[in-house]
Amino acid sequence: MEVVIVDSPAAGADLAADAIAQLLRAKPAAVLGLATGSTPLGVYDALVKLHEQEGLSFAQARGFALDEYVGLPADHPESYREVLQREIVGRVDFAPGAVRTPDGWASDLSAACLDYEEAIAEAGGVDLQILGIGTDGHIGFNEPSSSLASPTRVKTLTVETREDNARFFDGDMAAVPKHVLTQGIGTILRARHLVLLAWGANKAEAVAATVEGPVNSMMPASALQLHPHATIIVDDAAAAGLAQADYYRYVFANKPDWQGI
Ligand code: F6R
Repeated sequence: MEVVIVDSPAAGADLAADAIAQLLRAKPAAVLGLATGSTPLGVYDALVKLHEQEGLSFAQARGFALDEYVGLPADHPESYREVLQREIVGRVDFAPGAVRTPDGWASDLSAACLDYEEAIAEAGGVDLQILGIGTDGHIGFNEPSSSLASPTRVKTLTVETREDNARFFDGDMAAVPKHVLTQGIGTILRARHLVLLAWGANKAEAVAATVEGPVNSMMPASALQLHPHATIIVDDAAAAGLAQADYYRYVFANKPDWQGI
């Protein structure tokens, strides 16, 4: 696990976008794992800039969202299908249908989850997965007590997560769906490179427990400790609870130029 402490969310977003750009240049048909929420928005802005200014192409790439709400109207602006379309898919040159989200509108949700797992496997697996982290330590929508081997499935959001996400629904927690489809922790761990981003003091506790606490299903993001290539990019505020922050800074400052994240 590599922890990179950056001066600002913008610097962290650039680092993640550069890793994606490097991947796409080496492997134009790469499979990207796309998170939603506030955290990755700077990464998507940076990718759009690389697309517009340097011709970075997504034309052969594919993408898979981490999760989707269940029960929103099909055209709701906060469905993750719509959010991804607005924030990244419609702003670069992904081919039509190249980016998928779990089908939160399916009449058979379990079959939709199975179908999603199969689609990821058929695409050859995710090359680079962008992750945010919930204040309760969730990744995707794998809330505390999620199996660390879980596949894509239906989950019930915690009250904490619904309160956190009320800001996307005009502050109305009652409007935040209770149920979601989410890639499981087992699914996420199969991606070849995990890049978890966290900005702000409200993530500090979860970041510290993820990086320096025990691997524990009550802190789902701690499963990243089991992954051979996990990069945690945090700003100073989100790094505030890390006991070994000076060590992580030293390691990154002394990284050879040829070695990416
Ligand atoms: C979103 C997702 C969630 C968010 C997390 C943090 O697809 O899977 O795990 O990454 O809830 O959300 P923000 O970034 O809004 O703080």
